[in-house]
Amino acid sequence: MIKTTGTGEQLEGLRLGVNIDHVATIRNARGGRHPDPLRAAHIAIEGGADGITAHLREDRRHISDSDIARLKGELTRPLNLEMAATDEMVAIALRHVPNACCLVPERREERTTEGGLDVSGGAGHLEGVIDQLKATGIRVSLFIEADPTVIELSARLGADIVELHTGAYCEKALADDVAGVARELERLSAGAELAMAAGLEVHAGHGLTYNTVKAVARLPQIVELNIGHFLIGEAIFGGLTAAVQHMRALMAQARREA
Ligand code: PXP
Repeated sequence: MIKTTGTGEQLEGLRLGVNIDHVATIRNARGGRHPDPLRAAHIAIEGGADGITAHLREDRRHISDSDIARLKGELTRPLNLEMAATDEMVAIALRHVPNACCLVPERREERTTEGGLDVSGGAGHLEGVIDQLKATGIRVSLFIEADPTVIELSARLGADIVELHTGAYCEKALADDVAGVARELERLSAGAELAMAAGLEVHAGHGLTYNTVKAVARLPQIVELNIGHFLIGEAIFGGLTAAVQHMRALMAQARREA
């Protein structure tokens, strides 16, 4: 499949899911409604995002329940709901029926999703959650480390998709650890190959930046990358000049009209 993005670039079979959680983080720093994650989602789609990802955390630190309702109601592209495999989150997913649910581990004290799901430890529970979600037509993804045992178990539990955690690779890249980068990429590559052979759709994400995306995007088995924090950060730099110019223009206009 060849697609044209908003910037005219050709992508072959590799989708981009944009995670808009941190637009909500900025909004929540002040309360109120600005900046609105739904507006960010529309802009991301205009820019070429194939889907939108949002993580409804147990503590609602960024995305809220009403954000999920609005995203589901108004988005023109698929919504991927990231969530813990808890009864509360399953009930919310069954109410909104997003295109996909990505089950992630969640600890209140963590800043972000720090590792992959403990699929072996929670196999019985996860299998039940996967069945419930799939019964309503939701595609189910498990956010996992690229570990052969975990990949094979994910397939046996009935997951449609595995999203391979790229956090360790990105950390090694940030630390300029060349051998570590090579090791992590090899792990991701072998994991992607194994997952595809097991009949799973393969996604990847976490911590990806302009510097780290290409090596992962080259892996032929991966059909979707989910990227959030870096893109929202870069959007500040890309958009701040225009925002300041617009504010100055309004100020000048007010003086002229006074
Ligand atoms: N994929 C999953 C499953 C995640 O939990 C996250 C972080 O919310 C991401 C992708 C995106 O990671 P980042 O915000 O670091 O790009």
